[in-house]
Amino acid sequence: MSSHIALEESRHPVTEPAGETTSRRGFLIAAGAAGLCYVTALGYPVYRYLASPAEMASSASAVTEVTLKDAQKLPAGSVLMFKFGPSPAMLIHHADNTWVALTAVCTHLGCTVQYEPQLNRIHCACHGGVYDPRTGANVSGPPPKPLKLFKVAVTDTGVEVSRA
Ligand code: FES
Repeated sequence: MSSHIALEESRHPVTEPAGETTSRRGFLIAAGAAGLCYVTALGYPVYRYLASPAEMASSASAVTEVTLKDAQKLPAGSVLMFKFGPSPAMLIHHADNTWVALTAVCTHLGCTVQYEPQLNRIHCACHGGVYDPRTGANVSGPPPKPLKLFKVAVTDTGVEVSRA
């Protein structure tokens, strides 16, 4: 008896009511859209992470000059940290009234370095790297290269720092 019913069902395929087909299609479209949003939400940060070194390099090279308003008032023997493009940099006003601007990114592994006027050095606290605060030369520790120097022009309204 039951095999007879099964045979009947296979001869006459079940047709769905029109509303059920529409709701299934709507569900699939909504699920697809949600999936696309999910993939985009996950993929965009990954894309930004992977693309950032190239973008950072291009934006860093795009900046050629920074004007530090009122920085001419910086007391001798002190430092002003600033951003040159995306990277930290420092302007040092030495006690003998000379000015030096350098990148503040350690050439070892990229930590931000600090000027220590009492020790007359630029120090990297990450692994003990030491640089000369006048030339940027790497004097001791693991840094393989000197810090880059910038050109400095002191004016009545500020200090202009540009690529050397
Ligand atoms: S990152 Fe500066 S010494 Fe290692």
